[in-house]
Amino acid sequence: MSQTSGITKVTTLRLGKMKKRGERIVALTAYDYPSALILDQVGVDLILVGDSAANVVYGRDTTLTIGMEEMLYHTRAVAAGVKRALVVGDMPFLSFQVSVSEAVANAGRFLKAGAEAVKLEGAGPVKEAISRLVELGIPVMGHLGLTPQSVHKFGGYRLQARTAPEQDKLLADAKLLEDAGCFSLVLEKVPVGIAAQVTRELKIPVIGIGAGPDCDGQILVLHDMLGVFDTPPFKFVKRYAELGGVVRRAVAEYCKEVRSGEFPDQDHSFRIDAGH
Ligand code: KIV
Repeated sequence: MSQTSGITKVTTLRLGKMKKRGERIVALTAYDYPSALILDQVGVDLILVGDSAANVVYGRDTTLTIGMEEMLYHTRAVAAGVKRALVVGDMPFLSFQVSVSEAVANAGRFLKAGAEAVKLEGAGPVKEAISRLVELGIPVMGHLGLTPQSVHKFGGYRLQARTAPEQDKLLADAKLLEDAGCFSLVLEKVPVGIAAQVTRELKIPVIGIGAGPDCDGQILVLHDMLGVFDTPPFKFVKRYAELGGVVRRAVAEYCKEVRSGEFPDQDHSFRIDAGH
């Protein structure tokens, strides 16, 4: 925990202490300056610049097509709005799997763009990259369960770790990530029981999404919880607003007033009095 201009900054260390004290960690995704500013002011602890930007910002079906340049662009915008929260940059598909040196170079670019940590999906095949990043001072958040970059291997966005052998593998992978030096782990779309067991057995904070109530913290995709889209949300998403409807009504009202001449009115216009 560090203090700058009266604000107690959230650090990776602070998140570890929160787990020890049983304080729940609040995380959300953000992709731009105004959202990041609001999330930070309200007190969200961790802001992930998620590769879910591919879905909710760019309208793509999977996260596979988003690249480093787009992710860095969003990371810079988010970092500009954040004073307190820990900013985590999500490493996109093929930015960390090809070689350890590419993983280091790309993670370094996230830190230069304003992220304070990176997140990457997977365990065994990326263990060496994680260890090297941590060794070099780049904090890493792991991501297991439904890892969206493997959607084609999974055959869709299905619940993961359903069987006992799959649950054993998940627990082993989670421990491997802790041993590799991850400061935290995202657990996505897995049954409540195994999520609780992983959370109990790991010392690092486990942040759930579709992983039930027993994780150390929770994360959601911002656009999902704000109800930006009118498509039905995943079962694990709770909508805290219906922002799509609010925006639609406001824009429709604006269209009506411009067409009728009601806007702009006196209050929104400039007149210079005669003689001035
Ligand atoms: O990209 C993302 O938004 C994520 C979260 C769902 C954890 O990885």
